[in-house]
Amino acid sequence: MNRHILTITLNPTVDFATTAPEVVPGPKLRCTEPMIDPGGGGINVARAIQMLGGQATALIAIGGATGAHLLQLLTQEGIATVAFQGPGETRQSISVTDARNGEQYRFVMPGPSWAEHDLPRALRSVDQATGDGTFVVLSGSQPPGVAKDFPSILAAHVSTRQARLIVDTSGPALFHLAKGPHKTLHVLRMDGEEGEELAGRPLQTPEDTAKFARELVDAGVARMVIVARGADGSVLSSAEGSWHSVGPEVPVVSKVGAGDSFVGAFTLALAREEPLGDCLRFGVAAASAAVMTEATRLCDRAITEKILSDCVLTEL
Ligand SMILES: Nc1ncnc2c1ncn2[C@@H]1O[C@H](COP(=O)(O)OP(=O)(O)O)[C@@H](O)[C@H]1O
Ligand SMILES: [Mg+2]
Repeated sequence: MNRHILTITLNPTVDFATTAPEVVPGPKLRCTEPMIDPGGGGINVARAIQMLGGQATALIAIGGATGAHLLQLLTQEGIATVAFQGPGETRQSISVTDARNGEQYRFVMPGPSWAEHDLPRALRSVDQATGDGTFVVLSGSQPPGVAKDFPSILAAHVSTRQARLIVDTSGPALFHLAKGPHKTLHVLRMDGEEGEELAGRPLQTPEDTAKFARELVDAGVARMVIVARGADGSVLSSAEGSWHSVGPEVPVVSKVGAGDSFVGAFTLALAREEPLGDCLRFGVAAASAAVMTEATRLCDRAITEKILSDCVLTEL
């Protein structure tokens, strides 16, 4: 069984990546021909899923010429898209690498502000693109103007269609989610720092992380809670139990996109109805693969599969 996956990106970007001989204030910095990529949490999750041999539809809010450009880039990559009119003009981001030392400067725009009447349009588009049993993924920061309770509204909304929501968010939206019970939220995922901030204590061992994740599950925050532990893999807790998975040590090239690679692989395995522990292992392997590849690359399939065979799964 292969269930449909829909990723949601309310604040997508067109990412330009270029290199300058040096990055200093003042003179014009003559840059190389930019690499242009579609970007934004949900889009990256859909691209990661495609790299791993699966398929996902990317639901995106677009506006203006940059929005049209974004759609074209996704079409060129063979990603199925559903676009709806968001507020304003789709944002752009630029990263510039200093050729002297390889250091990367990343400039990220806020994106257009959302008004109250923009959200119902987003929810209608979600409805149209969601079928029974769809796995819906919400990843990435929220655009300005979107209320912090949007993920919980979305969770309740998609559950009326027997769809399940997986959320990887941060900041106020994450804090809001972690406070209340949401019996319709399927998966809540966060990184280790966010976990420690929410827990209000250091999560030194996988057992510490599992205890915290279990508290959230018991409080009804989500059916499953995943907390990453950096190079020490990730922990998943659900009513069925808690697991820790960690891969072999890998050389760190760029951590950009590792979180989205995790979410892509994990969701793909869920949609294939694999056992939970295997879903966790696949996510951990994809995150490690993403860490090993340069900034714009997500999880290479061959590397992910090689790492997967060395990913250890422990029940806690
Ligand atoms: N050195 C490392 N080796 C393997 N995996 C790593 C390493 N550092 C981080 N990770 C994994 O990469 C992912 C990063 O996720 P996250 O912190 O959400 O990143 P981002 O949101 O910046 O993509 C986590 O799953 C984490 O466990
Ligand atoms: Mg993240």
